[in-house]
Amino acid sequence: MKALASLALTATLALALPTLAAPALAQDDHVAPEPVASQVSLEDGLSAWNQIHEVFSHPRCANCHVGEDNIPRWSGPHYGDEPRNHGMFVNGDDSRFGVESITCTTCHATENAQVLHGPPGAEVWMLAPVEFVWWEKTSQEICEQVKDPERNGFRSIEDLAHHVEFDALVLWGWNPGPGREPAPYSASELASFVRTWGAAGAPCPAG
Ligand code: HEC
Ligand code: HEC
Repeated sequence: MKALASLALTATLALALPTLAAPALAQDDHVAPEPVASQVSLEDGLSAWNQIHEVFSHPRCANCHVGEDNIPRWSGPHYGDEPRNHGMFVNGDDSRFGVESITCTTCHATENAQVLHGPPGAEVWMLAPVEFVWWEKTSQEICEQVKDPERNGFRSIEDLAHHVEFDALVLWGWNPGPGREPAPYSASELASFVRTWGAAGAPCPAG
């Protein structure tokens, strides 16, 4: 239904806008208007980054984007007052999905368990690669990482926008299962913040 609705919207837009806009819409699924580089100020770019950071540092995202200890985190109100390590001594190990000890999918299925404190699930379940670390990093550090092709999976800013709009694990952040607080905004709002930030030259906050 969602796909149909977005197709219908794309079709309507393609009709409404003359030829110039049509090829871009046909190549890409998103329907949000593209920000024009020269129209986005540094200030608007930084404020878009702050919104991106609100999402990236949210427990639904940062719990998986952890560093070299390879330990997924349990943080956010659902898990109590203090952030803690994933229970049961779970460790993603170097593989980032626990193949060396116990694999994530032993417990995490392709859908959320519907009981409170049951394992959440999605099509894939594993830690983000170690260089995509956000856990306990500052806004500036996350910003520099996200736009560095050597540390973001060789993605352009548009690739990042596409990833946050359509990736199954990102989308899970808005459908996290019983009792868990969803990430702020929505996936398509997040994608549009990324495009605005990119159009301003992807500025990062100081310090
Ligand atoms: C279950 C673990 C998990 C969760 C939860 C998760 N991610 Fe990720 N994330 C991954 C994995 C694995 C990759 C690597 C996938 C790839 O490169 O294609 C990744 C890659 C990314 C990337 C690619 C570039 C980069 O520099 O990190 C972005 C952006 C991203 N995730 C955003 C998010 C956002 C936003 C959320 C929360 C709404 C989120 N992720 C939640 C595991 C997770
Ligand atoms: C022995 C079972 C088990 C294994 C193995 C396991 N998990 Fe979990 N995981 C759980 C359960 C249960 C929860 C939810 C606990 C709750 O809601 O209180 C959970 C929650 C999580 C969360 C918190 C998500 C959030 O933000 O709410 C992350 C992240 C996570 N697991 C990642 C992983 C990764 C990555 C692996 C593999 C390296 C893994 N888990 C292996 C059982 C497991």
